[in-house]
Parts: sequence; C-alpha cells; structure tokens
Amino acid sequence: MKPSSLSSFRPAGLLAGLLAGALLASAQPQPPQNLRCEYLTNPEAVDAAPPRLSWQPVSTLRGDAQTAYQILVSKETAAAAGDVWDSGQTKSAQFVNVAYAGKALESGKTYFWKVRSWDKAGTASPWSNVARFGTGLLNSGDWKGKWIAGGNALRKEFNVTGKVTGAKIFIAAAGYYELHVNGARIGNHVLDPSNTTFSERVLYNAYDVTRFVHPGANAIGVLLGEGWYANRIALVQMNIELEGGQKIEVSTDSTWQAGSSPITMDSLYNGESYDARLEQPDWDKAGFSGEAWKPAEEKPSPTKIVSAQMMPPIRALQEMTPKRMSSPKPGMFVYDMGQNFSGWVRLKVSGPRGTVVKVRHSELLYEDGTLNVENLRAARATDTYTLKGEGTEVYQPRFTQHGFRYVEVTGYPGTPTMDAIQARVVHSDVTPIGGFSSSKEILNQIQHIVQWGISSNLMSMPTDCNQRDERMGWMADGHLYAEAAMYNFDMAAFYTNWLQDMHDAQAADGSVPDTTPRARFAQGAADPSWGAAYPLVLWYSYQQYGDRRLLEQHFDGVRKWSDFMWSKSKDGTTDFIKYGDWVPVDFTPGPLVSTVYSYVAADIAAKTAQAIGKTAEATALRQRADAIKDGFNKRFYNSAEGYYGNGTQGSQILPLAYGMAPDAIRGHVAGYLRNQVVYHNDSHLTTGILATKHALPVLAKFSGLDLAYDVAVQRTFPSWGYMIDNGATTIWELWQKKEGPSMNSHNHAMFGAIGDWFMTDLAGIQQVPGGEGYEKVAIRPGVTRDLKWASGNFETLRGKVLSSWQRTDDGLKLEVMVPFGSTAEIVIPKLQLNNVSLLESGKTIWQGKQAAEPVDGVAAVKENDGEIVVQAGSGRYLFELKGK
Ligand code: BGC
Repeated sequence: MKPSSLSSFRPAGLLAGLLAGALLASAQPQPPQNLRCEYLTNPEAVDAAPPRLSWQPVSTLRGDAQTAYQILVSKETAAAAGDVWDSGQTKSAQFVNVAYAGKALESGKTYFWKVRSWDKAGTASPWSNVARFGTGLLNSGDWKGKWIAGGNALRKEFNVTGKVTGAKIFIAAAGYYELHVNGARIGNHVLDPSNTTFSERVLYNAYDVTRFVHPGANAIGVLLGEGWYANRIALVQMNIELEGGQKIEVSTDSTWQAGSSPITMDSLYNGESYDARLEQPDWDKAGFSGEAWKPAEEKPSPTKIVSAQMMPPIRALQEMTPKRMSSPKPGMFVYDMGQNFSGWVRLKVSGPRGTVVKVRHSELLYEDGTLNVENLRAARATDTYTLKGEGTEVYQPRFTQHGFRYVEVTGYPGTPTMDAIQARVVHSDVTPIGGFSSSKEILNQIQHIVQWGISSNLMSMPTDCNQRDERMGWMADGHLYAEAAMYNFDMAAFYTNWLQDMHDAQAADGSVPDTTPRARFAQGAADPSWGAAYPLVLWYSYQQYGDRRLLEQHFDGVRKWSDFMWSKSKDGTTDFIKYGDWVPVDFTPGPLVSTVYSYVAADIAAKTAQAIGKTAEATALRQRADAIKDGFNKRFYNSAEGYYGNGTQGSQILPLAYGMAPDAIRGHVAGYLRNQVVYHNDSHLTTGILATKHALPVLAKFSGLDLAYDVAVQRTFPSWGYMIDNGATTIWELWQKKEGPSMNSHNHAMFGAIGDWFMTDLAGIQQVPGGEGYEKVAIRPGVTRDLKWASGNFETLRGKVLSSWQRTDDGLKLEVMVPFGSTAEIVIPKLQLNNVSLLESGKTIWQGKQAAEPVDGVAAVKENDGEIVVQAGSGRYLFELKGK
C-alpha cells in the first residue's frame, strides 16, 4: 500500500476519463463485480449466521438501478450451480449484505456462489464470476483437540492413506502463531491472530492446504509468539478428505511435540532475538528426529469463545528502502527511512558464526545523528540476530513490530551497504479505497500524515501509537480517527470486529474499558469520552456501510453503556472524568466534556432504537438525552458571558457539534467561539483531541468555510502545518514539539480527524440524512479562499463516489460520481456570480433561472440565493457553472 500515491490524482485526468466513459454508454450489460461475503473477498472461514453476500452491479447508464437479483450457491463445486441455494429471480434493489437463505450450511466447508442482476429496464446481466466463502467450525464439538503449550514450537507428524481431495486447517492461538505444513509456510498473515480480550474470545483462521498435503508421511509445524497474550498456546484442527469419502482429522493434543525455535526472545515492545545457530532444519517436515522435543502439554481453554477472524489480517505490505545512511560513531550505522511507519527491518548479512548484529528503531535522532529513543519509554525496540556463519543470511522478525523512521545497526561484520537493510510496512491489510488532494500543498501534506498515521495504527485494532510501551486500543483515539479511516480505507470488517471486541469487553455494570481489547491500563470503567467509542463507532459504521444488523447486535450494549453513564449522573450532568479533552493547549472542564459524551451515548442509543424499530426504548432514551441536554445547559452555560464552561474553544465546540445548544443561544456561542479563534488566537485552535475532531466542521457550519480553512492551513503553533514544518511524516500526539522522555509520540493518529473534514467539507462528499451507506449522497464542493481545486473520492459498498472541483475563469467545473443505484443532491455554489448558467457534459441544463435542455440522469434543477441544486441519479457527471 502506498498512501502517498493516493493523493496524486488531479481533476484533469478525471475529465479525460469522463469522455472515455461516455463512449462506453451503449455497451452490453456487464456482470456484477466485487463479490463479498461479510465484507470479505473469498473468506476462508465465516461463522456469522447467516452470512451476508454483497456485490456491485455495473452500469454505464446514468440513473440505473437494480430491480432484481438471482444468487446461486453450491457446496464444493466451483460451478456454483445452486444446489444449496437458488434465490430465484428476487425483486429487490438490495445488493449489499443480502442474507444467505438456502439450505443449512455445514461446518468447515467451502461454498461457491455467483449472482446476476436485472437493471432498470429489466435486462438481466451475465452471471458474475464465481466467488467463494468457507464456513467456520460452527459447532463447538467440531474442535476435536485440546489447547496445547510447552514451547515456542509445536509439531505433529501424521499419515495419509489415499489421494487427498481436500484439506483445511483451522488454527486458534493466544499470542501469535506461524503455521507450516510439510516445510511450507502457510498463508501470508503476520502477527496473527488478531488481538482480542483473550479471556472472552480467541480468533481462529482457516487455510485450505489441499495442495500441501500428500499421501504418506506429513508434518504440521507451528511457531508461537507471546504477542498480547504474553504467553503461548494453540488449538489446531485439520480436516482431510480422501478420494472415496474417507476422512482424517489431525488435532492438537499431547501426541504433538513441543520444542524450541531459534527465537530466543520475542516481545511486542522490546523486539525479537533470533539465534540462527539454533535452527533445526526440517523441523516442519516428516521424518525429523525431534529428540530434544517433549510431548506438548494439554491446557484448559484460555477463553470462552473461539470464533472466526472475519477481518483483514495484518500483513507485511510495502517495501521501504533507506533514503540515507550515516555512521555517527565507529561501528554504528544509522539509516533514515524517510517516513515514520509500522513494521520491521529485513537484514542481510554475512560473517562469522556467532556474530551478533543489533537493530534498534526510533522515531527521532539527536543532533549528533544517534538514535533518540527517549519517547519509546520502556519499549526497547531492539531486534538481535546471531549469525550461523553460512553465506548470506537474511533475517526479519516475526513476532514483534516497531514504529520507526530511523534504524541503528551495530555489531555488523564490516560496513553495511545501503541495501543491507530493507523494511516492510506492517499493519492490518485494509484496502486503500480513496483519497483527497487539492491545489494547496499544506493540505496534501496533512492528508499524507493522516493516511500514514492512521494506517500504521491499524493493528487488528485501532491503536493509540505504534512505537512506545502502549500501542493499545485506546477508545477515544479509535473513535476520533474512525471516520477519516473510513474515507481512506475499507474499514467495514475491521470495525465490525472492533465493535465485537467492545461487546466482549463490556462489564456487567454496562461500563466498557478505556482500551478495547481490555488490557493492562484499562482498569475499571472508561472515561466517558473514551467509552463513547462504543456508540460512536457503531453509528459511524451504520452511516458508512448502512449495516442494520450491527445496530441490532449492539443496541443492548450501547444502551447499557448509556445506562452506566446515567448511573454516574446527577440532574443530567456527570462529574465522572479521567482524561477529558486530552492534550489541549487550553484546558476545558472535565464534567462539561463528560456530560457531552453522556449525551452522545443517550442520543445514539435513542437513534439506534429508532432505526431498528424499538419505539418505546427510543422514546425513553430520547427523554434521557433531553434531560442531559437540559442539565448541561443549566450547569455549564454562563448566560452573563454568553459562553459555555470556562470559555475555551473546546467548551463551545463540543456542545455546538452535538446540537446541545438551544436555538436561542446558539448564535451567541458560535460568535463567541469565532472571536476566540480569530482575535484571541490568530486563527489557531487551542483544543484537545476531542474538540479538535469537531473544530473545523463547527467553524465551517457556524462561521463559514473560510475560517475553518484559515485554521486548517496554519503553519505556526498549534497546527498540523507546524508538525509538518518540524519534520512530521505522521501525526504527532501533541501540538507541541517535544522529543524527551515524556509523553510525546510522533505517530498518534488521534488528531487525524481533519482527514474527514477534507472529504466532507472541501471535496464536499456527504450524505442526505436517512441515506445511510451512500444510498443518498450530497455533494457540496467547498470553494474557499485561495483553493483552486480539490478532489476527493472513495469506494462505498455501492461503488465509487467522487467530487472533484476546479475554479475556472468564469465559474467552476465539477465532476461527480454517484454510486450505482444511489441518488445525489448536488449543491453548486454560485460564487456570487450573476446570470449563472449550468452545463452538464457541454449541454446547458439551467439558464436564466430556468431549466434548459434535459439530460440523462438529472431529475431536477433549481436555483436558490447562493446556489444551484441538482437532483441526479447514479453515474458520472461533468458540470460547468458559468456566470459574470
Ligand atoms: C495514550 C492516549 C490515550 C491516553 C488516555 C495515553 O497514554 O497514548 O492516546 O488515549 O493515554 O488518556
């Protein structure tokens, strides 16, 4: 993945693409594309009941829609003939998350499916390509083995007495695993399985290993790492089918052997040590003597639930090559990778047996060019490789990960060359789906630090940071950058999993922890603004993906969290506070912040109840939300001064963002805020992480986009530009430049919400209320100040949405893409021009305050004071506003 390349597209290219697209308009019906099951492409194991299927109909016609679909599903045959489900021609516009409704699915099988769809004119598409999904081990009795432990390597030999027609391995581990069959490493996941609240749930993965298993003697090998579990334990179930229907099962028990691997130490924070002299060639093949190995120990299950990992795994992705190397001291070599990221280094070395090479990682350098690791606190971030002394040796760690820009190599035999190290970017392999770019360089640079900052903090959970001795699922950090993540990466399965983790981690009293998965820092109940991640991420997911089942699954959970908050409240407000508007320049009172997030909890719980038809609950929760709002205004509004709380920016922004200021005072508060920002702070923010997320949208909404833009493009303290001008390649934890032993991570994504503002307010891609999942899109290009053009796009589940605008000598050009089957309200600002006309692909559709030529897909046009509003169906449009 290369986040930076996403920002490189320009409107000119898109305009050319549009013309090419027009030529296709008369093409034949196309098959549906992008078939997915539970948001995943060809997943090996899903255990959601029933699994849901999604696809994207393809049409070159504007305003097209699906009128019907037919799905065929079959077991074990790639023909997808429909033997377990033939939906028949089903009249429906739905193509996202259609629930499987065929014969009961069997455990541990592979199912093949295809789909066709009928368009608006009633024409059937060709059948799609065949996709597949595997079922997980659906019944607890399907796991025949025991959890085993006893070393950091496990192995088992087994015999196969016929021709193998199918073989699947299911593997669960607490800590990390790497799986081998007959000498081959299986799959390309790393740091697997995902981190969970292990006492509640451990995730398993499935692999089709048919081509690795053969008649005769075979072997499975498993390496285990400590990971977040800080221990090592695994459960394996392998199901083999032979020609003639015979079945062989291989599962973990004390007949497995436990031994040790060359990994002599592995720790997420401290690094990995590997002694190549301890390698045991062929340990993962049949016939290995294994003399030093002992029987594995059978252990009680570490968890209550073992379920399928239904999210993109962590993978080693992009290669990074060093930009510079220096030698600040004899024998010490320091490489600059030019970018802060998550991952590890691959070392190439040859030298005498027993030579020990040390690789240390840091975000910062001292002036003398040596590594500054002070801000890593207790994390040692050191990998150590001991040479076996056989030719060129290549090593990269397996069970650790570092957050770094600089690499120090010591102990290297001789002087390493530039290519002695290469690095791999490692994080959850969420597909990049979009980006934002503009004519203003500082905004593009901010987009760069947002994309790198967020992606390097996606480690099966959204983390706070990726380098020091934390790296946990801190809940506020997670909700603050969730929307920006959703505009840049395909996060549907990732957040579905995180919500499941929150559900698992919720205590009987309704409280959720500050970090999910529950971890060592997270004792007791979360700070109200951290716990708000449960309702907020649920609601963001619903907005982006329209997933109603998530609302059904988590309504109870978010209601209980709201109940908990209510139990901590008196007269609607709460004094319960741990962190509040964290790391601000100006401090906002804690009870004010906590009460806002208590309101958020009640408000979202009420909306969730409403959306899933629980009317009585919705009414009760709405009353609660109103009571919190009343209590908030009584306690925190200072009517003499006309501001909330202690008058900080944060005290105004939060209630304005969540609609808590009554009509009568909203204008005062917004005006007061504007004065604070403009006159008292020279158009800079003084907010902490919570209010910063809402600062730019609130300023834009109440004081105009120009002011929000002025703040966004600042380069002096405190601003994103200040970070960049001081060397940031990812977002900092603090507005301040600090590099000492205190809390100052240089890769903390929580100030990254500016990334969602780029999309919603500058590119101008929004949703019409009630249009969840981009069924009803709103396009509102943010033309402001010196911005000449801005462009944003991302893949929704219904297809690409795009808004790309460019000023011209006499108006504005705007290219829009509306996802398939969706509608859009496109609001084109008149830019104070007179006698405006509007063209679409060269045809005048509006002139002299009335509609002119009709064009395909455009249902209506009207002119208001400051804008022209177009209603359009799906497809691509090229508008041109002209005026005097
Ligand atoms: C983390 C944060 C987190 C906070 C709680 C810090 O140490 O890195 O980002 O949200 O603690 O206040």
